[in-house]
Amino acid sequence: MKDLAPKREELDPIEIASRDEIAALQLARLKWSVKHAYENVPHYRRRFDDAGVHPDDLKQLSDLSKFPFTVKTDLRDNYPFGMFAVPREKVVRLHASSGTTGKPTVVGYTANDIDVWADCVGRSMRASGTRPGDIVHIAYGYGLFTGGLGAHYGAERLGCTVVPVSGGMTARQVTLIEDFGASTIMVTPSYMLSILDEYRSQGRDPRQSPLQIGIFGAEPWTNAMRQEIEQAFDMHAVDIYGLSEVMGPGVANECVETKDGLHIWEDHFYPEIIDPETGEPLPDGEKGELVFTSLTKEAFPIIRYRTRDLTRLLPGTARSMRRMEKITGRSDDMMILRGVNVFPTQIEEQILTVDGLAPHFQIELTQEGRMDAMTVHVETLSAEVAEELRAAACRQLCDRIKDVIGVTVRVNATPPGGVARSQGKAVRIVDNRRKG
Ligand code: DLL
Repeated sequence: MKDLAPKREELDPIEIASRDEIAALQLARLKWSVKHAYENVPHYRRRFDDAGVHPDDLKQLSDLSKFPFTVKTDLRDNYPFGMFAVPREKVVRLHASSGTTGKPTVVGYTANDIDVWADCVGRSMRASGTRPGDIVHIAYGYGLFTGGLGAHYGAERLGCTVVPVSGGMTARQVTLIEDFGASTIMVTPSYMLSILDEYRSQGRDPRQSPLQIGIFGAEPWTNAMRQEIEQAFDMHAVDIYGLSEVMGPGVANECVETKDGLHIWEDHFYPEIIDPETGEPLPDGEKGELVFTSLTKEAFPIIRYRTRDLTRLLPGTARSMRRMEKITGRSDDMMILRGVNVFPTQIEEQILTVDGLAPHFQIELTQEGRMDAMTVHVETLSAEVAEELRAAACRQLCDRIKDVIGVTVRVNATPPGGVARSQGKAVRIVDNRRKG
């Protein structure tokens, strides 16, 4: 793999500014953002008043912890435009996330918000090793989901040639990558695996593909998966993070030269880690729930938004801005099996240690008597695998999961294609337990 690290002079000065400079900028912007929310969004005014805090109480960054959290239901309760801080006519774009139940959550952007977003994604892509003039294949979904259009504007901002494919039609994805010579692909890691399968079924060698960089996000994935994809394609696999409530993709991104966690673009987003049970802020280095406050957003300022994503904050390395460790999972995705907490990413790591198993997987929860049971559905790499080998791979995976995670699961290894594929975010957990 080529060394693709950008030169220091290519970076925005703030990316490598001193911590003092970053903190001073954050404080000035935070004061503006909290005041902007208070003065223009009735929900925030009510919440701040109820909590007995006022924007003037914010004198230093740590004062933010006096302000109340915002949660997903606050956005639902103010559906569709109640959280907007500018007149609707100033909103040039809407996005929405579907959610599993009820109404979607709607977010809005002014022209300036779109501009800042493009800058953040452009910066993320540069950190990933992409350069002006590169051909960028975008297979994140276009539409209300922020992935496709967010990536699109960022790639244009960086000065790339954009191929706006969106998700689906996997055979065509391969043809376009090969024919147009894309060097960067932006897609969910799980859909990248489907593209890998397609390369193989077309008899093409993925290591000969023009791809050099994959910018993968929108769902949790592990370092084990990074290795798998990097080896398969002989390309760099870099992590991009974001969420629609905070902006979309490009809130944080890994640097291709270090791949040691995602630098948060702290000039636009102020991160905190809290204890998910008590809501107390935790010091850097401790693991908990990630909370974000926007510093520059006009249409949809967001104050102390509880993301449900679990990670910890680490000091800067390739950039001065702090890093968040690769996300382990969302608190909503944590399964508790006989008292043991289990995340899909832990299962993914173990699957990737077993020879003969493909990295596609889905976890099924069922109920047996009073007990919950977990079945891991995986695929064998090849269709013609001897029964003894299949059974041995299943046993090995069971043993690894028992040894490393500490839970007993069933493993069902099907031939290739047996596990449902997604063209965007993978569905990792299917809950077939009786409800109520
Ligand atoms: O998934 C935005 C996005 C698009 C990010 C493309 C990266 C690439 P939402 O649909 O609102 O927005 O979902 C946000 O997805 O709270 C995380 O749980 C998860 N997520 C996003 N990026 C990552 C990542 C987009 N790199 C939710 N690693 C977030 C782990 C991620 N989880």
